[in-house]
Amino acid sequence: MTLVEISEMERHYVMASETVRALDGIDLSINKGERIILLGPSGSGKTTLLNCVAALDNPTAGDYSFDGESVPRNHAEKMTTFRRENIGYVFQFFNLLQDLTVLENILLIQELSGKRDKKRAIELLSLVGLEAEVNRFPAEISGGQQQRVAIARSLAKSPKLLLGDELTGNLDSATSSKVMEVLVKACDAEGITVIMVTHDESLAKYATRVVRLDSGKIISDEKVNN
Ligand SMILES: Nc1ncnc2c1ncn2[C@@H]1O[C@H](COP(=O)(O)OP(=O)(O)OP(=O)(O)O)[C@@H](O)[C@H]1O
Ligand SMILES: [Mg+2]
Repeated sequence: MTLVEISEMERHYVMASETVRALDGIDLSINKGERIILLGPSGSGKTTLLNCVAALDNPTAGDYSFDGESVPRNHAEKMTTFRRENIGYVFQFFNLLQDLTVLENILLIQELSGKRDKKRAIELLSLVGLEAEVNRFPAEISGGQQQRVAIARSLAKSPKLLLGDELTGNLDSATSSKVMEVLVKACDAEGITVIMVTHDESLAKYATRVVRLDSGKIISDEKVNN
């Protein structure tokens, strides 16, 4: 079952003196349940691709369908609805609300997507190993724990696709392994497809597939046997 189908995707940045081809003919087909690690040098187009996949940005050209339907572009409202219904996004900086407890951070996201469910919120926090910390504030837990809250939060709306941009970029390697293990377990349990951008080759062991970008093009795409 195909979840993401991208063909000949282009994203150009037109500036006064030059045009940057941040995405330069991307073909990518992703099945449900795959976990993809996206590698590539700085400036190769990783974030641009993630943003186009999330409908946070508009491709300049090419086709993109998600779960069999064409993804909206150049229409902010439709793009927001698409994101709300389908996409979870975890950033490098966790973006937790500091005045809310761990649990309240999750409840807020549920409320925004119209389905507050405290039992499920606590379930998700247990899934990422934070059942003992639900009533603490972000400032009272570690960076790795905050990142796990961010993962639980992104799962709270049951996305079909979870996107992560350098989500372990601020963590030491032991903590980043722990966060990745939690993420794999949670996404497997929920049947969620994952695309993760990273510079850390060692994270390939958590993926089912490794895609490499360079200068806006896919230069390799390999299945991983884990
Ligand atoms: N708003 C923008 N205006 C002009 N050029 C941009 C803009 N955003 C990105 N670019 C260019 O597009 C290319 C791809 O950028 P992108 O941010 O996708 O790279 P990346 O692979 O995520 O890099 P990094 O690993 O450093 O995060 C780069 O050449 C970058 O300079
Ligand atoms: Mg980037």
